[in-house]
Amino acid sequence: MMGWSVMRTQVLLPLVIALTATLFVAGSAAGTATVIRGDAKAGEAIYSRCVACHSLAQDRTGPRHCGVIGRRAGSVSGFGYSDAMKRSKLVWNVKTLDRFIQNPMRTVPGTAMGYAGIADQQERADLIAYLAQANSSAVCRP
Ligand code: HEC
Repeated sequence: MMGWSVMRTQVLLPLVIALTATLFVAGSAAGTATVIRGDAKAGEAIYSRCVACHSLAQDRTGPRHCGVIGRRAGSVSGFGYSDAMKRSKLVWNVKTLDRFIQNPMRTVPGTAMGYAGIADQQERADLIAYLAQANSSAVCRP
């Protein structure tokens, strides 16, 4: 029994690490980087705040989110972005997404995304972990 539980830990731990999209958001509390780990499962629930306008695979009021990480802001062809977004020169990664989701209108002044933002850093990290994980799910495969 003991052997099994040791083995189970050895097998499960890397699995859990692999399954949890591990994203780090560097904050600066008194100069030290705080590391926040996003929980994709929790992020899925938080994504419900985005689905009024977004979906993973389809453009709606907002552009699709499949492939958003690594994408240049304002670059889904056929989607009618604001000039502000097209000119923002942002590339969406953990850091830029974190900033944008915290306060869209401050990060991209003039954006057409009428959303106040998410103040809670953990919630943002969870949401970004979900977006990363969703990208490798069946919904996002062509
Ligand atoms: C009220 C509608 C609305 C809501 C709610 C909303 N968005 Fe948006 N979103 C938009 C629109 C419209 C755009 C295009 C903005 C522009 O062109 O300036 C956009 C753009 C984006 C972009 C840039 C994508 C790209 O291709 O450059 C990201 C990232 C994004 N939204 C994430 C989110 C997330 C995450 C949430 C939920 C927390 C959310 N949005 C909630 C309407 C919305």
